[in-house]
Amino acid sequence: MISRYFGFYSTHLYLPGSALSRKVRRFLGRIRGKQSRFLQQARLPQVSWRECTRPRAIRLWEHRKENGNVRISELGVLANLARNCAPGANLFEIGTFDGRTTLNLALNAPDGCQVHTLDLPPEMATKFAIAEGERHMVDKPRSGARCEKYREREPERIGRIHQLYGDSATFDYTPYRDSCALVFVDGSHAYEYALSDTRAALSMVTKGGVIVWHDYGIWEGVNRALEELEAKEHLGLRNIRGTSLVFWRREN
Ligand SMILES: C[S@@+](CC[C@H](N)C(=O)[O-])C[C@H]1O[C@@H](n2cnc3c(N)ncnc32)[C@H](O)[C@@H]1O
Repeated sequence: MISRYFGFYSTHLYLPGSALSRKVRRFLGRIRGKQSRFLQQARLPQVSWRECTRPRAIRLWEHRKENGNVRISELGVLANLARNCAPGANLFEIGTFDGRTTLNLALNAPDGCQVHTLDLPPEMATKFAIAEGERHMVDKPRSGARCEKYREREPERIGRIHQLYGDSATFDYTPYRDSCALVFVDGSHAYEYALSDTRAALSMVTKGGVIVWHDYGIWEGVNRALEELEAKEHLGLRNIRGTSLVFWRREN
């Protein structure tokens, strides 16, 4: 019951309030002439979440947000996108962290969907330097810990989660090429990673499938990578209004 309430609250109540508060904070930052390090000016055109996915009766679990998780409104949008995937589709997340988003993708996606989620083992050397201030998300006892609590209650759905380990810049994405209905990019926020994870996402998304990036308007590296890409390639990237999500659908 409570999961249904949070499903409704996320996009119908929290999201509109959050949109307003972002606008006000950006406006105040501009007139005071100083912006927080985690409030970048966002230049991509905006789109309503309702234009990106059909609103469905989704359910959300693990409501508490840890530093590193998406907001509840963003979780609601992602769960709607998962709910609208075709049965049996592949979903891919770069950056598992504690598995809160992974769990909600798996519990909302239709029957037979598989959720693949990639995370960096703390001891692994990386191809590029990760961003300052994100080490705490890498150094954790276990990736995807929040999913485990649900294994007994939801064995079939939790069994669809496939945890993968490696550096997203050197990981072999060949088995997922052109096969994913939803790719969620939420790994390192360093510019080089935002670019290389985007290349990986573009290689994995299937025709008609969607890529969503997190932390646009928050981390400088993500902003720079996505705005440069849009300026060069005119893909049609859109910032989902009231969120730090960027949305793109592969048309052909
Ligand atoms: C912001 S958190 C992900 C949050 C998660 N998607 C959620 O919604 O709760 C970023 C994650 O990316 C992982 N990460 C950072 N650098 C990475 C890399 N080079 N390759 C793979 N994963 C990486 C971190 O270990 C961390 O778990």
